Amino acid sequence: MILLGVNVDHVATLRQARYRDEPNTHGGFVEPDPAKSAWLAEDAGADGITMHVREDRRHVQVEDVIRYQEKMRTRLNLEVSLAPQMVELALSLKPESVCLVPENRKEVTTEGGLDILSHIERSRDAVKAFIDAGIPTSMFIDPDEKQLEASAEIGSPWVELHTGSFARSWYDATRRATELATLRKGMEFGISLGLRVNAGHGINYDNVEGAKQLDQVYEFNIGHSIISRSITHGLQEAVQKMRAGLND
Ligand code: PXP
Repeated sequence: MILLGVNVDHVATLRQARYRDEPNTHGGFVEPDPAKSAWLAEDAGADGITMHVREDRRHVQVEDVIRYQEKMRTRLNLEVSLAPQMVELALSLKPESVCLVPENRKEVTTEGGLDILSHIERSRDAVKAFIDAGIPTSMFIDPDEKQLEASAEIGSPWVELHTGSFARSWYDATRRATELATLRKGMEFGISLGLRVNAGHGINYDNVEGAKQLDQVYEFNIGHSIISRSITHGLQEAVQKMRAGLND
């Protein structure tokens, strides 16, 4: 069985669009709440929750993580960059696992995998700090042999393969097959190195058909498509309730 980690960053993105500068006003009524969404995802069968605290705090805030942890029932996979202050922060939050991701302030979301080879010593130090604290690490990398070898070499027990190129190619049958083959090769190579292989980014309700063929992937981390569907599928109830609120 392939496990599902639900990423709730986009709930925080929506909250920040309205309340970024006034989080403590409105009598504490600030919505939507990423922690509450995470608990609902757990109720619905999520195997784990992923949150990405970015250096610029553009969506998830540290308080969201702490609030979620107070009543969590699965496990938290915390995504952070390799910046020393983010590694310190992640250590202090004691998540069940950490996924190390690249961060570029201009990108809309995490656009490419981490280039471990260019940051080998920083990556090694970060992985060691987490492993010493009993927190397994995952390196978010492209399905590239050199990055997989580097992940194993620096002692990271897990990797997360970036599925963004595959997701973007899904509606083109030829590219889709090539990207899927690349991911399969990466998955098999990673497993042969003794790594636990997770995957994620850009998976939606169409391309999940292809993603599931990567059947040795331990867990997929999926966010945007799940949060998007919850908005469209919850809209009818939301409109009906507000109309009733105005008239009943
Ligand atoms: N995995 C990692 C490391 C990510 O950075 C993201 C995006 O924040 C995801 C998975 C989930 O991607 P998506 O929101 O496209 O499902």
